[in-house]
Amino acid sequence: MSCINNKHILQINNLSISFTQYEQGLRQIDLQVIRNLNVSVHEGELVAVVGSSGSGKSLLAHAILGILPPNCNASGNIFFEDELLDNARIQELRGKKIVLVPQSVNYLDPLEKIGEQVRKECKEESVRRRQEELFSYYNLQKNTADLYPFELSGGMARRVLLSTAMMENPRLIIADEPTPGLHLEAAKNAMRHFREFADKGNGVLLITHDIELALEVADRIAVFYAGTTVEEAPVADFQSMDTLRHPYTKALWRALPQNGFQPFPGNQPYVKDMPKGCSFGPRCLQFTPECEGDIPEQVIRCGTVRCIHAE
Ligand SMILES: Nc1ncnc2c1ncn2[C@@H]1O[C@H](COP(=O)(O)OP(=O)(O)OP(=O)(O)O)[C@@H](O)[C@H]1O
Ligand SMILES: [Mg+2]
Repeated sequence: MSCINNKHILQINNLSISFTQYEQGLRQIDLQVIRNLNVSVHEGELVAVVGSSGSGKSLLAHAILGILPPNCNASGNIFFEDELLDNARIQELRGKKIVLVPQSVNYLDPLEKIGEQVRKECKEESVRRRQEELFSYYNLQKNTADLYPFELSGGMARRVLLSTAMMENPRLIIADEPTPGLHLEAAKNAMRHFREFADKGNGVLLITHDIELALEVADRIAVFYAGTTVEEAPVADFQSMDTLRHPYTKALWRALPQNGFQPFPGNQPYVKDMPKGCSFGPRCLQFTPECEGDIPEQVIRCGTVRCIHAE
């Protein structure tokens, strides 16, 4: 985006993802779950992607890491440090320069002791020391390394996933809802660690439905609605509704406790019933017939927005 001069770490251009499914026997349908999505992370930036359940946030994370399920089709370009990511390159980078803190604790192998998983079976002393440092940072007792996943509480398992992501020397962390199940202190610790990591010149893409948490730590917020980013805004723009650009972002803002907790009627459309044009159209008070046409992304005041009425 034009107002940020730092180098890109991650750049996603026009990402679309669809699933091929069969309905009533042999009728093949193509379910478009993500469409024309753009997101970027620059050096030193923590970018939060906020959106409600089912809006495509985890698929976005999996697309970056090249771990989408086989029944899906993806198009668009993903660049890491200005290099186009193809299958071969992402395999080299995954788990090393680009790491995932997954949404589900089921990513832990139930048959292997925690310490061995976190150290990726590496026996070197320096690796063991790093693991011990991280466990202490995340308030995990030393003997956690000797436990199996079934012996951990949900919160401990999450802290183990955070430690695993930090083990290598990553350049980009994709954290997919890293805090559910953590008590407030542990969640704040995790956020502090992500913030410090970004401040060293790295990048973090924090995926969350918790906009309040995002506003505390992020530099920029990408607002996701029904499979695309409707707005990307510097965090400072959330201080007032007037500096926000998209009617959905404004509705999220009004629903925050500090802004009156005003609920917004209606639901995000299901992928099979997407309206024509703007996906927010049926809920939008500014709706006009033109909203059923093409909705290009525009740059307004150092942010982007997909709304023809935005100013
Ligand atoms: N393998 C699949 N086959 C078909 N549809 C899928 C598949 N995986 C995900 N979807 C659909 O894609 C959409 C986006 O899913 P995704 O898991 O990315 O949402 P999310 O924003 O991460 O939600 P949550 O906040 O609940 O984690 C959902 O409607 C989901 O049903
Ligand atoms: Mg998810």
